[in-house]
Amino acid sequence: MKPAALLRALFLVLALGLASAASAKPTAAAAKEAPAADPNESCLMCHGDASAKGAGGQSIGVDAAVFAKSVHGEMQFKCTDCHADVSVDQLPHAEKLAPAACVSCHEDAVKNYQGTAHAMAREKGQGMAATCHDCHGSHDIKRSADPASRTNFVNIESTCGACHGNDKIVAQAPLPGGNIQAKYHDSIHNQLVEGKTVYNRAAPTCTSCHGAHSIQPKSAPDSRVARANIPATCGGCHQREKTVFDKGRHGAQLQTGNTAAPVCSDCHGAHAIQRASTPAWQNEVVGACGNCHDDFITSFRHTYHGKVSTMGFGKVATCASCHGAHDVRPASDPLSTVSPENRLQTCRNCHPQAGPQFVSWDPHPRPKDKERDLILYYTNIFMEVLLVGVFLFFGLHTVMWAYRSLKNKFSGGGKGH
Ligand code: HEC
Ligand code: HEC
Ligand code: HEC
Ligand code: HEC
Ligand code: HEC
Ligand code: HEC
Ligand code: HEC
Ligand code: HEC
Ligand code: HEC
Ligand code: HEC
Ligand code: HEC
Repeated sequence: MKPAALLRALFLVLALGLASAASAKPTAAAAKEAPAADPNESCLMCHGDASAKGAGGQSIGVDAAVFAKSVHGEMQFKCTDCHADVSVDQLPHAEKLAPAACVSCHEDAVKNYQGTAHAMAREKGQGMAATCHDCHGSHDIKRSADPASRTNFVNIESTCGACHGNDKIVAQAPLPGGNIQAKYHDSIHNQLVEGKTVYNRAAPTCTSCHGAHSIQPKSAPDSRVARANIPATCGGCHQREKTVFDKGRHGAQLQTGNTAAPVCSDCHGAHAIQRASTPAWQNEVVGACGNCHDDFITSFRHTYHGKVSTMGFGKVATCASCHGAHDVRPASDPLSTVSPENRLQTCRNCHPQAGPQFVSWDPHPRPKDKERDLILYYTNIFMEVLLVGVFLFFGLHTVMWAYRSLKNKFSGGGKGH
């Protein structure tokens, strides 16, 4: 026998000794009198003690009462059904055992899991990626329909959040997207999920958008959250918005393969989704439009609407008040809210008195563009010349004044004026 093996055997005998020393326990006592009827008892002799520790100091205690209430315990499964490389006939067992096996009974789940982001990350050596027991537990597994289950709808946020909401793990792994639970937690979706009295299953939790045994990285083309699939994923619940969106310019461009066109999450975000009527978000989304239409946001900022909304007041027109949200169209399209036919009506939503002259006002003034607006072009030049002139004149004036004051002071005679 090699010394290490000898040590191990010694240790296991010691552990056994300890377990029988605590023979005040009825289970251990019963085990002494007659061979255990329940094979699990022979394991629980050593593992039934909640404070039992392995050689590395790790906990090896198994709470028999909790196991008995688990879905597998209720069916009176044997410890060795999962710990298949241990046998009650060959104890003590080896120090290092294979991970618990689920595959003998849950072939489909194991197979589906193989293709997921978590399994692929594990294959690449990312040991922190979720495997069966990270999401389901080990000796306390319950049916998902049971509200106490980790995979019950109401508990999914915290089950995924154990990693995707844990700043330490997020930084260590590192996990893409940062602390996602924190973003999701305050969203309109989660506010609904955690409705005051009942959980609203119509609203999405993590697995509603990502799947459970089908979670894919967003870079995988068949992922539910791959850019191209996002409208369908959100549209699964927001059918009405999706239908309008598909007909608008953005949706139509996406369908023709223009990946520069926005999907739902470009404007709404994916996790920190707010109610669309929230003033702060309405101002934020202007910036989202501006990310892609930078010349139009610049010109918008020149206008009264733009200046006021920049200061955070929500009542003036933002991009979507004039263009619509999901059905944006080129001005040349008669269905566009800003087409010559519809423009006045669009302004009248907020300026009920507006007459036909009103719409000659340019919502996207470009003072440097001579062709677009000749008057604005020259007015702008005049204003710039005036501005520079005023600064030059008074700047010069101030310098001369300072020179004069200093001269007076140092020439001794200076008592000011
Ligand atoms: C004689 C006491 C004893 C008995 C009986 C016993 N074990 Fe253990 N078991 C241990 C000790 C001690 C360890 C810790 C080994 C280590 O890591 O140092 C352990 C570890 C384990 C581990 C964790 C292995 C790992 O790789 O971390 C599993 C699983 C396990 N036992 C299952 C069982 C099952 C199933 C039975 C019943 C068939 C059983 N044990 C019976 C003492 C016992
Ligand atoms: C449904 C399958 C299943 C059954 C049945 C089961 N276990 Fe486990 N057990 C696991 C999983 C999963 C782990 C987590 C580590 C791993 O994957 O091996 C685990 C871990 C352990 C460990 C290591 C310490 C720990 O808690 O992580 C011990 C010891 C252990 N089991 C003992 C037992 C004993 C004793 C029984 C019978 C009373 C039992 N197990 C029944 C699935 C099971
Ligand atoms: C010996 C066979 C066997 C093994 C091994 C086994 N299970 Fe099970 N498991 C079952 C059976 C049978 C059910 C009950 C299925 C049912 O009634 O629908 C079940 C139920 C479950 C459920 C609840 C399903 C639901 O309806 O929501 C989960 C989750 C689960 N097992 C996970 C695991 C995991 C994880 C492992 C490995 C650590 C594992 N099982 C190992 C047989 C097994
Ligand atoms: C990332 C978390 C996660 C991982 C990893 C995971 N599951 Fe699940 N599993 C779930 C959720 C959530 C459900 C609940 C049903 C749903 O939402 O689709 C579930 C459902 C189940 C069910 C119920 C029947 C079914 O297929 O829907 C079984 C059995 C199961 N899982 C076993 C496993 C096994 C075995 C593994 C490891 C190979 C595993 N799970 C890995 C989250 C996970
Ligand atoms: C309303 C649908 C929805 C919900 C609910 C949701 N996600 Fe996402 N998730 C997405 C979309 C869409 C993307 C891809 C776009 C993006 O990253 O902005 C994504 C991306 C991710 C990413 C990758 C981030 C990156 O930058 O690569 C992770 C990890 C993730 N989600 C985890 C979670 C977790 C954990 C939860 C629950 C706390 C959750 N998601 C809830 C839709 C959702
Ligand atoms: C035990 C920790 C852990 C748990 C629990 C966990 N994850 Fe993960 N998750 C990871 C790790 C690690 C990665 C891989 C990161 C990488 O690619 O390096 C990952 C990757 C992902 C990705 C792919 C991100 C991308 O686009 O590349 C998504 C989506 C995701 N997880 C969602 C979830 C959801 C939803 C749940 C709950 C049902 C969950 N995770 C539970 C650790 C975890
Ligand atoms: C170009 C930016 C943009 C895109 C892309 C976008 N939305 Fe919106 N969405 C908005 C704006 C702006 C509002 C607010 C409209 C308002 O104030 O009337 C809104 C409102 C909503 C609302 C609230 C109800 C309503 O109609 O006012 C829902 C739900 C919604 N969007 C879902 C979606 C979904 C699902 C997608 C993808 C199919 C999507 N959005 C794509 C900008 C966008
Ligand atoms: C599982 C179904 C489901 C999925 C998937 C889903 N949502 Fe929702 N969402 C809801 C429900 C339910 C509400 C609340 C509707 C209400 O109260 O008017 C909501 C509310 C919203 C709101 C606020 C609506 C308002 O009245 O202002 C927006 C915006 C939104 N979702 C966008 C999205 C986006 C973007 C996605 C995809 C990344 C998405 N949703 C995916 C179910 C879903
Ligand atoms: C992710 C980039 C992106 C975002 C965000 C975005 N757009 Fe667009 N938008 C596009 C692309 C690409 C087109 C198609 C241009 C074309 O027709 O060639 C387009 C077309 C348009 C059109 C039709 C005019 C035209 O040139 O076809 C209008 C109007 C418009 N967007 C307004 C908006 C408004 C308002 C928002 C914010 C609520 C917004 N866009 C957000 C990329 C974006
Ligand atoms: C007060 C109403 C109003 C506001 C606010 C507004 N627009 Fe416009 N927008 C118009 C009108 C009217 C037109 C058509 C005339 C023109 O081209 O100047 C237009 C034209 C456009 C076009 C070109 C359409 C085409 O057919 O070529 C884009 C793109 C655009 N706007 C984006 C935006 C963005 C992005 C914002 C916010 C940063 C915004 N608009 C704010 C009224 C508005
Ligand atoms: C969402 C509501 C909304 C829409 C739509 C809107 N405006 Fe305004 N606009 C305002 C508010 C609020 C003010 C602040 C001054 C006021 O109360 O008249 C303002 C101010 C103005 C001003 C400068 C102040 C003034 O009254 O002289 C002009 C010019 C103007 N809007 C033109 C337009 C034109 C042209 C359109 C259509 C293309 C339009 N607006 C669409 C809300 C809107």
